[in-house]
Amino acid sequence: MSVPLSSSLPYRIGYGEDAHRLAPGLSLVLGGVSIPSERGAVAHSDGDAALHTVADALLSGLALGDIGQYFPDTAAEWQGMDSRVIVERALALVRERGYVPVNLALVITLDRPKLGPLRAEIAASVARLLGLPQSEVGVSFKTSEGLAPDHVQARATVLLARKA
Ligand code: C5P
Ligand code: MG
Repeated sequence: MSVPLSSSLPYRIGYGEDAHRLAPGLSLVLGGVSIPSERGAVAHSDGDAALHTVADALLSGLALGDIGQYFPDTAAEWQGMDSRVIVERALALVRERGYVPVNLALVITLDRPKLGPLRAEIAASVARLLGLPQSEVGVSFKTSEGLAPDHVQARATVLLARKA
């Protein structure tokens, strides 16, 4: 049986992950939303693990590598940068190749604080960045059950469709 090449199909799936260590006195940004928190992400950029994950999911769907290739964390110019720029760049690369995102599922794992009250705000922020209705962005939260209390982690799948 011959298997079709994914380049012959109108859809591609992307997957991304990221994690950042948490430390006192730093800011915590997730999905482009500032989170009230005693601890924030240790990072070269603004440390938005959710947006780094979204950008990697977009790139991986078209086998375009990962954000480290486009935004090396050694480059001084990316120090403290707004991670929305990273997603915008990944999205531009996807669009240049004739694809658009259809829907995204994002999971954020964080023990504290509770993110449930910010679910709609985070979904709206990510949807706006991707040019999608909020109903196409699913956002789930998990604790690590104390297994990773000093980290924020994120995972995401995205469906990409070839533009007609
Ligand atoms: O990880 P666990 O399944 O115990 O999480 C229970 C619920 O707490 C989740 O379904 C989620 O809605 C919520 N949660 C949250 N903010 C977090 C972690 C979990 O709102 N940082
Ligand atoms: Mg990151």
